[in-house]
Amino acid sequence: MANNTLRKLHRTNALLLLVFIVLHLINHMTIVLGIDNHLAVMEALRIIYRFLPVEILLFALFFAQMIIGLMLIFRRGKPQGGWAWLQVLSGGYIAFFLLQHMTAAVATRMIYALDTNSYWAAGVVSKAPFVWYFVPYYVLGIVAIFAHLACALRFRSWPAPATKVQVLLPWAGLVVGVIVVSGLMGSFSPVNLPVQYQAYLDNYWSSN
Ligand code: HEM
Repeated sequence: MANNTLRKLHRTNALLLLVFIVLHLINHMTIVLGIDNHLAVMEALRIIYRFLPVEILLFALFFAQMIIGLMLIFRRGKPQGGWAWLQVLSGGYIAFFLLQHMTAAVATRMIYALDTNSYWAAGVVSKAPFVWYFVPYYVLGIVAIFAHLACALRFRSWPAPATKVQVLLPWAGLVVGVIVVSGLMGSFSPVNLPVQYQAYLDNYWSSN
């Protein structure tokens, strides 16, 4: 398939996926209002994205997006300049992040029969040794999304000088990432993990 067609598909797919991503991140930002509110918003949003046909479509579109993105990375050759590097690195990290994130969500539900709700996300950022991996992993996941969006906007307006929005977007991602993850860690209000989530972490550690 020609690169231009791939790029168009990647852009159109991104716009569809952005609807889920924006809702998902708004959901995570509600952690500043406490874990109960985070859970309530997640349960409300699940009516849409956990409706099986929607969920299958969502997973298919995310996988297609990763494959198209990786094809674009491998076909473009060595990136030239800071924005091109940022685009490739953020895209590569998103693919790595999502592959793990989506597989983990499905595997946790199927293997451990555990609800992958707010406590599931909070658990891995609240207890060592998980915290050492999952804090940077989640923060960088959000930074990468904002940075990738900034690059898309940057290349649309190329070769005009970078706008303030384009330069500030990756930093905004860092702020959002730090707020969400520190909220899940219990920085704004306590997060008391139910026993089944404690047990999940203990079992996971002792069986690996
Ligand atoms: C701090 C960052 C993030 C946290 C804590 C987080 C947490 C979660 C949780 C708890 C679920 C399970 C939801 C449920 O069971 O209803 C989930 C699912 C998912 N997340 Fe994230 N997420 C984060 C970032 C992202 C980002 C940046 C993306 C996309 C680029 C993403 C894409 C997805 C997808 C596709 C699912 C599967 C939805 C489904 O189960 O149908 N997540 N995430």
